[in-house]
Amino acid sequence: MDSEEEMLKILFKQEHGFLISKIMFTACELGVFDLFLESEDTLTSAAIAERLGTSNVGMERLLEACVGLKLLRLEKKDNEGLYGNTDLANLCLAKSSPKSQYQYMKFCSEHFYPNLEYLAQAVREGKEQIQSICGTSEKDFYKATSSSKEELQRFSSALEDAWSLYGEEVMSAMDLSCFHIVCDLGGCSDAFAKKYISLYPNSTVTIFDLPEVVETTKHLASSEEQRITFQGGDFFNDQVPEADLYTLARVLHGWDDEKCVTLLTKLNKACKPGGGVLIVDTILNEDRNGPLEAHIYSILMLLYTKGKARTSSEYNALLGAAGFKVIQFKKGRLFGVVLGRK
Ligand SMILES: C[S@@+](CC[C@H](N)C(=O)[O-])C[C@H]1O[C@@H](n2cnc3c(N)ncnc32)[C@H](O)[C@@H]1O
Repeated sequence: MDSEEEMLKILFKQEHGFLISKIMFTACELGVFDLFLESEDTLTSAAIAERLGTSNVGMERLLEACVGLKLLRLEKKDNEGLYGNTDLANLCLAKSSPKSQYQYMKFCSEHFYPNLEYLAQAVREGKEQIQSICGTSEKDFYKATSSSKEELQRFSSALEDAWSLYGEEVMSAMDLSCFHIVCDLGGCSDAFAKKYISLYPNSTVTIFDLPEVVETTKHLASSEEQRITFQGGDFFNDQVPEADLYTLARVLHGWDDEKCVTLLTKLNKACKPGGGVLIVDTILNEDRNGPLEAHIYSILMLLYTKGKARTSSEYNALLGAAGFKVIQFKKGRLFGVVLGRK
């Protein structure tokens, strides 16, 4: 059993987890990490406050907290405190960081954070709460999200951030070089597709998403990339493009088992023998006691959709029910990859 000291540490951290997120989001929003990345130098708190137009007192408090969270470093020179980004901040927290998570954090701060107010209600009712808040008659979150173009762009940019961190790992989890014609169902933007074609140069990818989503995201995609195309449609009601491989990244976790089997069965029929479907989602351990990442996504799915996080055997069962025979599974740092073949 944990000592009381350990228990109290866990308690304090869990009680204040939301504050930790908000400290990081606030530093991002005010441009603290961008300033350090651009200046490539350490700066005093007063200099940062002046450049970012904040109070000295508030900025110093925020910077010290970020040092405590290991987002910034602090060194003393001639009795003066000099702040700079940690490697984590340089890599992920500035807008122009090579693996920036800025847009995702902005989305977390502006959407997930306030909407978690409805979590208790979601637990009481056992169903999603957000479509009513979006004030739309549509039954699912994705259609609700696409009700505003700017909102949709923000959602799409937020989703893209994951692929700069995990895209290569996901694409190389299995050898997919035998699949040349790929359809990224519910692909949203070209971020996932770009990772695919960079690892598999002989491939082409069609991004298939709701018409209103594609209308917005195709204009943001790089027009030079001829191997990526967009097609609007509803994967439940419209014909899906012909492909050797259908990818479903963070799609099935948004739907209940029945809808998943309906979609997978449709894809099985669309596949030629040897064709496949690649599921990319956070995967729960078989004993369901972790990982934390899968539990977090599962809670978000309860709040926003009819879906949930699943174990790899649950995904196997869905694929099996849809007629897929050979099933492979590989666990990654955040996402698991499940490949079903006809
Ligand atoms: C959570 S997002 C995942 C986006 C992308 N695959 C990723 O991981 O970055 C789910 C996507 O599925 C799309 N989607 C939802 N219902 C759909 C439907 N019936 N037909 C086509 N796309 C759909 C949404 O518009 C959204 O872009």
